[in-house]
Amino acid sequence: MTNLQTMTLAADGDGFATAAGVLAKGGLVAFPTETVYGLGADATHDTAVARVFAAKGRPSFNPLIVHVADLAAARNIAVFDDMALRLAAAFWPGPLTLVLPLRPGHGIAPLVSAGLETIALRVPAHPVAQRLLRTCDLPIAAPSANPSGQISPTTAAHVAAGLTGKVDAILDGGRCDVGLESTIVGGSPLALLRPGGLSVERIETLVGPLAPAGEGITAPGQLASHYAPKATVRLNANAAHPGEALLGFGPMPSDLNLSITGDLTEAAANLFGHLHKLDAMKRPIAVAPIPDVGLGRAINDRLRRAAAPR
Ligand code: TXA
Ligand code: MG
Repeated sequence: MTNLQTMTLAADGDGFATAAGVLAKGGLVAFPTETVYGLGADATHDTAVARVFAAKGRPSFNPLIVHVADLAAARNIAVFDDMALRLAAAFWPGPLTLVLPLRPGHGIAPLVSAGLETIALRVPAHPVAQRLLRTCDLPIAAPSANPSGQISPTTAAHVAAGLTGKVDAILDGGRCDVGLESTIVGGSPLALLRPGGLSVERIETLVGPLAPAGEGITAPGQLASHYAPKATVRLNANAAHPGEALLGFGPMPSDLNLSITGDLTEAAANLFGHLHKLDAMKRPIAVAPIPDVGLGRAINDRLRRAAAPR
């Protein structure tokens, strides 16, 4: 791919106007959401979507999430049943992605859903994402703004480190507060396709138990080795072996700590930033045990992928 001159844009009037102009011409804009930074393109523009796959070096069978400003815009693209409407009413805008049947005349480029009859949709809560969506008035297809298989970005600096020269612009909206990708649900019976920034418990309180993924519907992005730092990762470590850098949780001696007080929300927000910093130390990484409840389930999912053989 050609070497682009990547602009960093402030989240002000000029920045939004420039970003919307780039998107309208089929360019790529990385932008903040409350979960992680997204690598955005006009979801109706085939070439723009293809550029996303090229910029990430992502396997092309892996479909993208489409971001829209509100439920009304989402209903132009997909068919909502009662369950989907209840979920949207309760959790949008926010870190929940719904996989739903595409609606006839949806206008979305086929590459977005990699040929599936379904589409993954999300209404982000971050004010910068919201204002970008309203300024460009387009559905934005956006995977996380990192080269495929690497750690997801939670600051504009992370995006710049991975994608400078591969995107037209990076809209800087500071650090993402949730720090983990959205939770993905879909199918009938409703299944958990990816644990993420909205806890399964909160979804189940509203709609009852979720089915496991795998029967009928799966998220193709759930490859075993993913979110991978360059260093090796050893899980459930109570102490570092010689030479290892230790990522702690709770009060313990460590090189970096996800949350000294053992707070899982704080740990989720710190996860990718800390992995980036540990990766820069160029030592094998050991990670303390994380309780497998609430956001801890999503953190452990990401850590298992980071540690998977590759
Ligand atoms: O928080 C997030 O979700 C971030 C921000 C930028 O919104 N986006 C994100 O996108 O994590 P990405 O592309 O890294 O992950 C998309 C996931 C993949 O696991 C993919 O397989 C799944 O969504 N997916 C997309 N469309 C799908 C579909 N039609 N059916 C099943 N899974 C789908
Ligand atoms: Mg990703």
